[in-house]
Amino acid sequence: MKKNSTTHSAQNVDEIVSNALTELMSTKTLDDLDQWRIRYLGRKGIVVQLKRSISDLPSAERPEFGQTINSASKELEAKLLNKQEEILASDSKKTAESIDVTLPGVPVNNGSLHPITQTIRDICDAFTTMGFEVIEGPEVELDYYNFQMLNIPKHHPARDGFNTLWIDQEDSNGEKPMLLRTHTSPMQIRTMENQEPPVRLIVPGKVYRYEATDSSHEWHFSQIEGLAVDKGITFANLKGTLYEFARKLFGEDVKVRFRCDYFPFVEPGAEMSIDWNSRTNQTGDANWIEILGAGMVHPKVLKAVGYDTDKYTGFAFGIGVERIAMLKHGIDDIRLFYNNDIRFLGQF
Ligand code: PHE
Repeated sequence: MKKNSTTHSAQNVDEIVSNALTELMSTKTLDDLDQWRIRYLGRKGIVVQLKRSISDLPSAERPEFGQTINSASKELEAKLLNKQEEILASDSKKTAESIDVTLPGVPVNNGSLHPITQTIRDICDAFTTMGFEVIEGPEVELDYYNFQMLNIPKHHPARDGFNTLWIDQEDSNGEKPMLLRTHTSPMQIRTMENQEPPVRLIVPGKVYRYEATDSSHEWHFSQIEGLAVDKGITFANLKGTLYEFARKLFGEDVKVRFRCDYFPFVEPGAEMSIDWNSRTNQTGDANWIEILGAGMVHPKVLKAVGYDTDKYTGFAFGIGVERIAMLKHGIDDIRLFYNNDIRFLGQF
Protein backbone atom coordinates (compact mmCIF):
# COMPACT_ATOMS: atom_id res chain seq x y z
CA MET A 1 0.00 0.00 0.00
CA LYS A 2 1.34 3.35 -1.06
CA LYS A 3 -0.77 5.78 0.90
CA ASN A 4 -1.42 5.64 4.60
CA SER A 5 -4.17 3.18 5.19
CA THR A 6 -6.10 5.42 7.63
CA THR A 7 -7.36 7.52 4.72
CA HIS A 8 -8.98 4.42 3.40
CA SER A 9 -10.85 3.28 6.45
CA ALA A 10 -14.60 3.59 6.83
CA GLN A 11 -13.92 5.12 10.19
CA ASN A 12 -11.99 7.89 8.54
CA VAL A 13 -14.85 8.56 6.09
CA ASP A 14 -17.22 8.82 9.06
CA GLU A 15 -14.95 11.40 10.59
CA ILE A 16 -14.83 13.41 7.37
CA VAL A 17 -18.64 13.33 7.14
CA SER A 18 -19.08 14.39 10.72
CA ASN A 19 -16.63 17.29 10.28
CA ALA A 20 -18.39 18.29 7.09
CA LEU A 21 -21.76 18.33 8.85
CA THR A 22 -20.44 20.40 11.73
CA GLU A 23 -19.10 22.94 9.25
CA LEU A 24 -22.37 22.88 7.35
CA MET A 25 -24.31 23.73 10.50
CA SER A 26 -22.37 26.94 10.90
CA THR A 27 -22.90 28.17 7.31
CA LYS A 28 -25.18 31.17 7.25
CA THR A 29 -25.16 32.43 3.70
CA LEU A 30 -25.51 30.95 0.24
CA ASP A 31 -21.90 32.00 -0.39
CA ASP A 32 -20.66 30.04 2.64
CA LEU A 33 -22.70 27.13 1.44
CA ASP A 34 -21.13 27.23 -1.98
CA GLN A 35 -17.65 27.24 -0.47
CA TRP A 36 -18.62 24.19 1.55
CA ARG A 37 -20.00 22.44 -1.52
CA ILE A 38 -16.79 23.07 -3.48
CA ARG A 39 -14.68 21.82 -0.60
CA TYR A 40 -16.52 18.55 -0.15
CA LEU A 41 -18.54 17.83 -3.29
CA GLY A 42 -16.70 19.90 -5.92
CA ARG A 43 -14.76 18.46 -8.84
CA LYS A 44 -11.54 18.57 -6.81
CA GLY A 45 -13.26 18.13 -3.48
CA ILE A 46 -12.68 15.67 -0.70
CA VAL A 47 -15.29 13.16 -1.88
CA VAL A 48 -13.76 13.01 -5.34
CA GLN A 49 -10.33 12.55 -3.79
CA LEU A 50 -11.62 9.68 -1.70
CA LYS A 51 -13.16 8.07 -4.78
CA ARG A 52 -9.88 8.36 -6.64
CA SER A 53 -8.02 6.73 -3.78
CA ILE A 54 -10.09 3.56 -4.18
CA SER A 55 -7.66 2.34 -6.80
CA ASP A 56 -4.93 2.37 -4.20
CA LEU A 57 -6.66 -0.33 -2.21
CA PRO A 58 -6.27 -4.02 -2.62
CA SER A 59 -9.06 -5.13 -4.97
CA ALA A 60 -10.82 -7.14 -2.28
CA GLU A 61 -11.41 -4.03 -0.18
CA ARG A 62 -12.48 -1.73 -3.02
CA PRO A 63 -16.24 -2.56 -3.30
CA GLU A 64 -16.97 -2.04 0.37
CA PHE A 65 -14.98 1.16 0.57
CA GLY A 66 -16.61 2.38 -2.64
CA GLN A 67 -20.08 1.91 -1.09
CA THR A 68 -19.04 3.73 2.05
CA ILE A 69 -17.94 6.72 -0.01
CA ASN A 70 -21.10 6.66 -2.15
CA SER A 71 -23.42 6.73 0.81
CA ALA A 72 -21.31 9.44 2.48
CA SER A 73 -21.54 11.50 -0.70
CA LYS A 74 -25.31 11.04 -0.92
CA GLU A 75 -25.72 12.08 2.67
CA LEU A 76 -23.68 15.24 2.13
CA GLU A 77 -25.69 16.15 -0.98
CA ALA A 78 -28.97 15.68 0.83
CA LYS A 79 -27.83 17.81 3.76
CA LEU A 80 -26.60 20.45 1.35
CA LEU A 81 -30.07 20.73 -0.21
CA ASN A 82 -31.73 20.95 3.20
CA LYS A 83 -29.38 23.68 4.29
CA GLN A 84 -29.94 25.57 1.06
CA GLU A 85 -33.71 25.60 1.64
CA GLU A 86 -33.21 26.68 5.22
CA ILE A 87 -31.06 29.65 4.19
CA LEU A 88 -33.47 30.69 1.45
CA ALA A 89 -36.42 30.56 3.83
CA SER A 90 -34.72 32.64 6.48
CA ASP A 91 -33.57 35.16 3.86
CA SER A 92 -37.12 35.76 2.64
CA LYS A 93 -38.33 36.12 6.22
CA LYS A 94 -35.64 38.72 6.82
CA THR A 95 -36.74 40.63 3.72
CA ALA A 96 -40.31 40.69 5.05
CA GLU A 97 -39.10 41.82 8.46
CA SER A 98 -37.02 44.55 6.93
CA ILE A 99 -40.18 46.41 5.75
CA ASP A 100 -40.42 49.51 7.89
CA VAL A 101 -43.98 49.53 9.18
CA THR A 102 -43.56 52.98 10.65
CA LEU A 103 -43.23 54.56 7.19
CA PRO A 104 -46.38 56.43 6.06
CA GLY A 105 -48.66 54.17 3.99
CA VAL A 106 -49.77 54.66 0.42
CA PRO A 107 -53.22 56.24 0.54
CA VAL A 108 -56.09 54.24 -0.98
CA ASN A 109 -58.96 56.18 -2.50
CA ASN A 110 -62.05 54.92 -0.75
CA GLY A 111 -65.32 54.84 -2.63
CA SER A 112 -68.52 55.81 -0.84
CA LEU A 113 -72.22 55.29 -1.37
CA HIS A 114 -74.05 57.85 -3.48
CA PRO A 115 -75.81 60.39 -1.22
CA ILE A 116 -79.18 59.29 -2.63
CA THR A 117 -78.41 55.64 -1.87
CA GLN A 118 -77.42 56.68 1.66
CA THR A 119 -80.64 58.65 2.11
CA ILE A 120 -82.73 55.74 0.80
CA ARG A 121 -81.03 53.47 3.34
CA ASP A 122 -81.65 55.92 6.19
CA ILE A 123 -85.35 56.23 5.27
CA CYS A 124 -85.74 52.46 4.88
CA ASP A 125 -84.08 51.92 8.27
CA ALA A 126 -86.54 54.34 9.89
CA PHE A 127 -89.50 52.34 8.56
CA THR A 128 -88.16 48.80 8.94
CA THR A 129 -87.73 49.44 12.67
CA MET A 130 -91.47 50.22 12.67
CA GLY A 131 -92.27 46.85 11.07
CA PHE A 132 -92.35 47.77 7.37
CA GLU A 133 -90.93 45.41 4.75
CA VAL A 134 -88.81 46.73 1.84
CA ILE A 135 -89.77 45.60 -1.68
CA GLU A 136 -88.92 46.78 -5.18
CA GLY A 137 -90.78 46.87 -8.48
CA PRO A 138 -90.40 47.46 -12.22
CA GLU A 139 -89.47 50.88 -13.62
CA VAL A 140 -91.14 50.11 -16.95
CA GLU A 141 -94.75 49.84 -15.85
CA LEU A 142 -98.24 49.35 -17.28
CA ASP A 143 -100.73 52.20 -17.52
CA TYR A 144 -103.01 49.73 -15.70
CA TYR A 145 -100.89 49.78 -12.50
CA ASN A 146 -99.46 53.29 -12.76
CA PHE A 147 -102.88 54.94 -13.28
CA GLN A 148 -106.02 52.89 -13.81
CA MET A 149 -105.90 50.74 -10.66
CA LEU A 150 -104.99 53.85 -8.67
CA ASN A 151 -108.30 55.47 -9.53
CA ILE A 152 -106.86 57.48 -12.43
CA PRO A 153 -108.81 56.19 -15.45
CA LYS A 154 -108.02 57.22 -19.01
CA HIS A 155 -108.68 60.94 -19.65
CA HIS A 156 -108.72 61.71 -15.90
CA PRO A 157 -107.40 65.25 -15.40
CA ALA A 158 -104.97 64.02 -12.70
CA ARG A 159 -102.93 62.46 -15.50
CA ASP A 160 -101.90 65.97 -16.53
CA GLY A 161 -100.00 66.28 -13.25
CA PHE A 162 -97.83 63.31 -14.13
CA ASN A 163 -95.93 64.29 -17.25
CA THR A 164 -95.54 60.78 -18.53
CA LEU A 165 -92.80 59.24 -20.64
CA TRP A 166 -94.58 56.60 -22.73
CA ILE A 167 -92.97 53.50 -24.21
CA ASP A 168 -93.29 53.73 -27.97
CA GLN A 169 -95.26 50.53 -28.48
CA GLU A 170 -98.98 50.33 -29.34
CA ASP A 171 -101.54 47.66 -28.50
CA SER A 172 -104.31 46.46 -30.87
CA ASN A 173 -106.43 49.54 -29.98
CA GLY A 174 -103.64 51.84 -31.09
CA GLU A 175 -102.96 52.83 -27.45
CA LYS A 176 -99.67 52.85 -25.60
CA PRO A 177 -100.07 50.52 -22.61
CA MET A 178 -96.56 50.96 -21.17
CA LEU A 179 -94.69 53.84 -19.59
CA LEU A 180 -91.80 54.69 -17.31
CA ARG A 181 -93.48 54.75 -13.90
CA THR A 182 -94.26 58.28 -12.78
CA HIS A 183 -94.38 57.25 -9.11
CA THR A 184 -93.78 54.19 -6.92
CA SER A 185 -97.51 53.82 -6.11
CA PRO A 186 -98.12 51.03 -8.71
CA MET A 187 -96.34 48.67 -6.28
CA GLN A 188 -99.23 49.20 -3.84
CA ILE A 189 -101.50 47.49 -6.37
CA ARG A 190 -99.06 44.78 -7.42
CA THR A 191 -98.63 43.79 -3.77
CA MET A 192 -102.28 43.95 -2.72
CA GLU A 193 -103.28 41.83 -5.75
CA ASN A 194 -101.11 39.03 -4.38
CA GLN A 195 -101.36 39.43 -0.63
CA GLU A 196 -104.11 39.62 1.96
CA PRO A 197 -103.83 42.16 4.82
CA PRO A 198 -102.00 42.88 7.01
CA VAL A 199 -99.72 44.73 4.57
CA ARG A 200 -96.87 46.98 5.70
CA LEU A 201 -94.39 47.80 2.98
CA ILE A 202 -92.09 50.46 1.63
CA VAL A 203 -90.92 50.66 -1.97
CA PRO A 204 -87.78 52.64 -2.80
CA GLY A 205 -87.11 53.23 -6.47
CA LYS A 206 -86.61 55.50 -9.45
CA VAL A 207 -89.44 57.35 -11.14
CA TYR A 208 -89.59 59.39 -14.34
CA ARG A 209 -91.38 62.52 -15.51
CA TYR A 210 -91.22 64.38 -18.78
CA GLU A 211 -90.12 67.69 -17.27
CA ALA A 212 -87.62 70.46 -17.97
CA THR A 213 -84.83 70.33 -15.41
CA ASP A 214 -83.91 73.17 -13.10
CA SER A 215 -82.45 73.45 -9.60
CA SER A 216 -85.49 71.75 -8.05
CA HIS A 217 -86.69 69.47 -10.89
CA GLU A 218 -85.16 66.43 -12.51
CA TRP A 219 -86.75 64.24 -15.20
CA HIS A 220 -85.84 61.19 -13.09
CA PHE A 221 -85.69 61.02 -9.33
CA SER A 222 -86.32 58.67 -6.42
CA GLN A 223 -89.35 58.04 -4.29
CA ILE A 224 -90.17 55.82 -1.36
CA GLU A 225 -93.71 54.55 -1.34
CA GLY A 226 -95.32 53.36 1.86
CA LEU A 227 -98.46 51.30 2.42
CA ALA A 228 -100.11 49.89 5.53
CA VAL A 229 -103.44 48.04 5.32
CA ASP A 230 -105.03 46.20 8.23
CA LYS A 231 -108.10 46.13 10.42
CA GLY A 232 -108.72 49.40 12.20
CA ILE A 233 -106.04 51.60 10.63
CA THR A 234 -106.87 55.29 11.03
CA PHE A 235 -105.57 58.70 10.04
CA ALA A 236 -104.02 58.90 13.54
CA ASN A 237 -101.80 55.90 12.63
CA LEU A 238 -100.74 57.71 9.46
CA LYS A 239 -99.79 60.82 11.40
CA GLY A 240 -98.02 58.90 14.17
CA THR A 241 -95.99 56.82 11.72
CA LEU A 242 -94.90 59.76 9.58
CA TYR A 243 -94.11 61.94 12.60
CA GLU A 244 -91.92 59.14 13.98
CA PHE A 245 -90.18 58.88 10.59
CA ALA A 246 -89.47 62.65 10.60
CA ARG A 247 -88.06 62.48 14.12
CA LYS A 248 -85.82 59.53 13.24
CA LEU A 249 -84.45 61.34 10.19
CA PHE A 250 -84.30 64.95 11.33
CA GLY A 251 -84.05 64.68 15.11
CA GLU A 252 -86.40 64.58 18.10
CA ASP A 253 -87.25 68.29 18.04
CA VAL A 254 -88.49 68.48 14.47
CA LYS A 255 -91.95 70.00 13.97
CA VAL A 256 -94.28 68.60 11.33
CA ARG A 257 -97.46 69.93 9.75
CA PHE A 258 -100.20 68.10 7.82
CA ARG A 259 -102.35 69.92 5.30
CA CYS A 260 -105.04 68.79 2.88
CA ASP A 261 -103.88 67.68 -0.54
CA TYR A 262 -105.43 65.76 -3.39
CA PHE A 263 -104.35 62.45 -4.91
CA PRO A 264 -107.03 60.34 -6.67
CA PHE A 265 -105.94 57.15 -4.88
CA VAL A 266 -106.36 58.45 -1.31
CA GLU A 267 -109.22 60.00 0.62
CA PRO A 268 -108.62 62.13 2.56
CA GLY A 269 -105.27 63.16 1.11
CA ALA A 270 -102.56 65.21 2.83
CA GLU A 271 -99.09 66.57 2.50
CA MET A 272 -96.61 66.62 5.33
CA SER A 273 -94.12 69.47 5.79
CA ILE A 274 -91.37 69.91 8.32
CA ASP A 275 -90.40 73.20 9.91
CA TRP A 276 -86.80 73.57 8.85
CA ASN A 277 -86.21 76.26 11.47
CA SER A 278 -87.25 73.90 14.28
CA ARG A 279 -84.57 71.51 13.14
CA THR A 280 -81.82 74.07 12.82
CA ASN A 281 -82.88 75.66 16.14
CA GLN A 282 -83.53 79.00 14.52
CA THR A 283 -86.07 81.28 16.09
CA GLY A 284 -88.59 83.30 14.21
CA ASP A 285 -91.22 82.24 11.71
CA ALA A 286 -91.56 78.61 10.77
CA ASN A 287 -90.04 77.58 7.46
CA TRP A 288 -92.38 74.83 6.22
CA ILE A 289 -90.94 72.50 3.60
CA GLU A 290 -93.11 69.79 2.07
CA ILE A 291 -91.46 66.37 2.07
CA LEU A 292 -94.20 63.88 1.25
CA GLY A 293 -97.73 63.18 0.01
CA ALA A 294 -99.99 60.81 1.93
CA GLY A 295 -103.56 59.79 2.71
CA MET A 296 -105.99 57.01 3.59
CA VAL A 297 -106.13 54.49 0.75
CA HIS A 298 -109.24 55.23 -1.34
CA PRO A 299 -111.96 52.56 -0.89
CA LYS A 300 -112.14 52.30 -4.69
CA VAL A 301 -108.50 51.21 -4.75
CA LEU A 302 -109.04 48.63 -2.00
CA LYS A 303 -112.12 47.28 -3.80
CA ALA A 304 -110.27 47.08 -7.11
CA VAL A 305 -107.77 44.62 -5.62
CA GLY A 306 -110.56 42.62 -3.98
CA TYR A 307 -110.14 43.76 -0.36
CA ASP A 308 -113.18 43.89 1.91
CA THR A 309 -113.58 47.60 2.71
CA ASP A 310 -115.88 46.86 5.66
CA LYS A 311 -113.00 45.05 7.27
CA TYR A 312 -109.90 46.86 6.14
CA THR A 313 -108.56 50.38 5.92
CA GLY A 314 -105.09 51.64 5.19
CA PHE A 315 -102.79 54.58 4.66
CA ALA A 316 -100.24 55.29 1.96
CA PHE A 317 -97.49 57.85 1.46
CA GLY A 318 -94.88 58.82 -1.11
CA ILE A 319 -91.60 60.44 -0.02
CA GLY A 320 -89.36 62.46 -2.37
CA VAL A 321 -85.85 61.19 -1.64
CA GLU A 322 -83.87 63.99 -3.33
CA ARG A 323 -85.77 66.63 -1.37
CA ILE A 324 -84.83 64.91 1.90
CA ALA A 325 -81.17 64.52 0.86
CA MET A 326 -81.02 68.21 -0.16
CA LEU A 327 -82.41 69.28 3.19
CA LYS A 328 -80.14 67.00 5.19
CA HIS A 329 -76.97 68.09 3.41
CA GLY A 330 -77.85 71.70 2.58
CA ILE A 331 -77.72 71.13 -1.19
CA ASP A 332 -79.50 73.74 -3.29
CA ASP A 333 -79.48 72.15 -6.74
CA ILE A 334 -81.00 68.71 -7.41
CA ARG A 335 -78.99 68.33 -10.63
CA LEU A 336 -75.77 67.94 -8.62
CA PHE A 337 -76.82 64.41 -7.65
CA TYR A 338 -76.71 63.14 -11.21
CA ASN A 339 -73.87 65.15 -12.78
CA ASN A 340 -71.42 62.55 -11.47
CA ASP A 341 -68.88 65.17 -10.48
CA ILE A 342 -66.53 63.42 -8.07
CA ARG A 343 -65.75 66.74 -6.31
CA PHE A 344 -69.41 66.77 -5.22
CA LEU A 345 -69.98 63.04 -4.69
CA GLY A 346 -66.66 62.62 -2.86
CA GLN A 347 -67.97 64.72 0.07
CA PHE A 348 -70.42 62.06 1.29
N1 PHE B 1 -97.60 58.95 -5.69
C1 PHE B 1 -97.75 60.30 -5.24
C2 PHE B 1 -96.86 61.23 -6.10
O1 PHE B 1 -96.00 60.75 -6.77
C3 PHE B 1 -97.39 60.44 -3.79
C4 PHE B 1 -98.36 59.72 -2.89
C5 PHE B 1 -98.18 58.40 -2.59
C6 PHE B 1 -99.43 60.41 -2.36
C7 PHE B 1 -99.08 57.75 -1.77
C8 PHE B 1 -100.33 59.76 -1.54
C9 PHE B 1 -100.14 58.45 -1.23
O2 PHE B 1 -97.04 62.42 -6.11
